[in-house]
Amino acid sequence: MRRPIIAGNWKMYKNVNEAVELTNEIKRAVFNVNNVDIVIAPPFVNLSEVGDMLLETNIRLSAQNCYWEQEGAFTGEISVPMLKSVGCQYVIIGHSERRKYFGETDCTVNKKVAAVIENELIPIMCVGETLEEREAEKTLEVVKTQVTEGLAGFDEAYLKTLVIAYEPVWAIGTGKTATPGQAQEVHAVIRNLIKDLYSENLSSEIRILYGGSVNPGNIENLMNETDIDGGLIGGASLKSEGFIDIIKKTSNLCTKKGIEE
Ligand code: 13P
Repeated sequence: MRRPIIAGNWKMYKNVNEAVELTNEIKRAVFNVNNVDIVIAPPFVNLSEVGDMLLETNIRLSAQNCYWEQEGAFTGEISVPMLKSVGCQYVIIGHSERRKYFGETDCTVNKKVAAVIENELIPIMCVGETLEEREAEKTLEVVKTQVTEGLAGFDEAYLKTLVIAYEPVWAIGTGKTATPGQAQEVHAVIRNLIKDLYSENLSSEIRILYGGSVNPGNIENLMNETDIDGGLIGGASLKSEGFIDIIKKTSNLCTKKGIEE
């Protein structure tokens, strides 16, 4: 079992006061969890404040997006060095909501992943099919294309820290989780693709998260699948109890399987 990541994507929720409160609650509850990588991704405007609160804790800070240039006349955009300067260690790239509403493509995802890695942060690259694509039995083809194009041009040394998140679009915010079997099938295909594109070594080390209506009731079954290495959690990460429960259940599972530290 690879060391799991439980990441909370807060999307466009929480003003700064609410973000501080939620961060405090999570911090207090999970300070002694040391076998799970815990990540929270608040909106841009809260990153600096929350980043300060996470100094010397076991919780890592993520942004939800970035621009690929280092700096320049790009009104409204945020660069990776800026994110780094407020304490971000991760950046979510290519979330399906960004692809759907903001015109992200595999090509922009590719540029952003490069910018994140060049600045020594960790990209969480999101892929996943829509309901129509699943019903047309195109899931595997769509996901393989997204991974291949998203990573086009990188050599293996570049991708040591890369995290991939499989988030079927039809399962996001709908309460319809993919069954552990459905998720495992796609995770295994992604892992195999990484082997074909790169090496056995990278494919066995890369962490692939599942996202889409993850909650305290389904996390254990998902985590019991061989190729699922954690969760990217939306709705259930907005309330401390649910997110803490997911972290603790994952941690207990790791303890059972002998993963410590
Ligand atoms: P939900 O957990 O609300 O379905 O959202 C998943 C997601 O999009 C995480 O990035």
